[in-house]
Amino acid sequence: MDKVLAYLESQNDRFVASLCDYIRFPSVSAQPVHSADMRACAEWLVNYCKRIGLKTRLCPTKGNPVVVATTRKSGPKKTTSKKRKPHFLVYGHYDVQPAEPFDLWTTKPFEPVIRGSSLFGRGASDNKGQHLAHLNAVEAYLATGTELPCDLTFVVEGEEEVGSNNLENFLKANRKELQCDAVIISDTGMPAIDKPALTYALRGIVAVEVRLSGPSRDLHSGIYGGTVDNPAMVLCQLLAKLRDKNGKITVPGFYDEVEELSDFERNQFKKLKLNEADYRKHLGVEKLFGEKGYTPVEQRSARPTVEINGLTSGYQGIGSKTIVPALASAKLTFRLVPNQEPKKIIQQIDSYLRKLCPPTVKLTVEDGHYGEPYLVSPEGKYAQAALRTLRKAFGHEPVVMREGGSIPIVTQFKKILGADTLLLGLALPDDNAHSPNEKFDLRCFANGMKMGALLWPELVG
Ligand code: BES
Ligand code: ZN
Repeated sequence: MDKVLAYLESQNDRFVASLCDYIRFPSVSAQPVHSADMRACAEWLVNYCKRIGLKTRLCPTKGNPVVVATTRKSGPKKTTSKKRKPHFLVYGHYDVQPAEPFDLWTTKPFEPVIRGSSLFGRGASDNKGQHLAHLNAVEAYLATGTELPCDLTFVVEGEEEVGSNNLENFLKANRKELQCDAVIISDTGMPAIDKPALTYALRGIVAVEVRLSGPSRDLHSGIYGGTVDNPAMVLCQLLAKLRDKNGKITVPGFYDEVEELSDFERNQFKKLKLNEADYRKHLGVEKLFGEKGYTPVEQRSARPTVEINGLTSGYQGIGSKTIVPALASAKLTFRLVPNQEPKKIIQQIDSYLRKLCPPTVKLTVEDGHYGEPYLVSPEGKYAQAALRTLRKAFGHEPVVMREGGSIPIVTQFKKILGADTLLLGLALPDDNAHSPNEKFDLRCFANGMKMGALLWPELVG
């Protein structure tokens, strides 16, 4: 192991340079103009994996291709003998969120720059830097001729940020090859540089787009206003009815399956000690808002929410324009917690909006991507091994936590491959995931590589 760790240290500068190369691809999965960039980025990754010595292929899907890279020399062994090496899957995503609004970036999103201990660029921590750390750790094993105690297969997809719609079929089609003892993902966060974390729950999500259409074209608001309904106004009225002043979602049936938090868990949450003043400052708000009766830690990791992600209607350019707009639309997401079923929730949202919508406008609710909530015990043997690894790699006591973000494919790993997932995140709270000026702390990168090296012997035991 000393050799492996020494190798990682000696190659650190090159690893950082490679991460910069990786970030230069504007692999924005949400925007069709970037489809060639997606492919180029995936091909870069294929070459990266091949150079390390992994058997690598680019697998087409109906959407962006999936990179599969393995340490196995041949296919999965049929033998059930005790000599079978354990097999672990490492998952990541090479797609990134849109970088807009560009003018709020200090330096360009796809031209990575190091400032202080951080590397700035879209995708630096979400998720290019995090899975590259694992790949580099494996490189260190292979380059130093150190035997891995297990087989490893990397699955790096290009559609996580848009809901992983094609990955489920990919997993089904490659079930045999991907069958594994556990999945390891570094795509979550850690509370601070000296607080490594094992995340044992993620929220689920459903995304819907609500569209209202009124008159057949934008109308002069002086000539027609007062006789025709305004889709933008109706949209505001509808959206305002989705949540009450106590932060409760008003969609009938929405909370029916929500599992209440146990006293044990609420006590655990208290230990995470979020400093409210610092938190407010970090977010730039004077006062927090959240569901009454729950602490901020609970509200953002273990309670369901609704968010408006984007609103569109009428004239948005410079100066004024006097119209009744023909159209209004909103992109909504609901975060879900254990036992809430995305499909059922979409139904509930749809019927509620239909009931509320007046006959003066036409409503369409288009359902987008969705993912189920995930929860696994942090007490299993792999989770314990992961905690030992974090302790060694970071030199600090790890925390165990739930997080509010979503990784839609995680529940499919369980359903299709029968494997639980260990979430070992390397992103810091101020890494600006999905925001302008995303960054990755290079100390987390280095510690992440160390973690990636120490993990395998620890898991195999
Ligand atoms: N890395 C995040 C997920 C995450 C972030 C989990 C922080 C826990 C803490 C991931 O890339 C992500 O952003 N997922 C999307 C999924 C969605 C588009 C289906 C999300 O959570 O918004
Ligand atoms: Zn993300």
